[in-house]
Amino acid sequence: MDTPTTPSMLLAHDHLRLERLFSELRDAFEADAREDIPLLWTELDTGLRAHLEAEEKHALPRFAETDPSEASALRAEHDAIRKQLDELDVMVDLHVLRADAAAAFLDLLQAHAAREEKLLYRWVEERADAEGESLLGGARERLARR
Ligand SMILES: [Fe+2]
Ligand SMILES: [Fe+2]
Repeated sequence: MDTPTTPSMLLAHDHLRLERLFSELRDAFEADAREDIPLLWTELDTGLRAHLEAEEKHALPRFAETDPSEASALRAEHDAIRKQLDELDVMVDLHVLRADAAAAFLDLLQAHAAREEKLLYRWVEERADAEGESLLGGARERLARR
């Protein structure tokens, strides 16, 4: 995929990257590749937490001024995602993460991503001229730290 040049593209690009990691994880489950699962999980966990943080720091505060209820619903979904991540982290550590638990989590993430792309990312895109560079720079820096 091309290098993203707008903040919403950057975030949507990151959704795709995380989704790809998830499908690698699914393949690892299918192949029963026990050594790959914790490595892929750690990459996904780190990337996902950085993504949530980037949105909370660089997109949601300004979006909340326009649509407070949608912004707080998205934040609540982030909290639910982190709670699930914490639980799944423990399962990975204990080597008891199962494919069906990972698949249920993926459903949660996909629903969140779809909701976000419809409203939040569109809103960010519309601000691409005015505030886009600061949104893009900040989010890029945060995503690069993962
Ligand atoms: Fe999000
Ligand atoms: Fe997102």
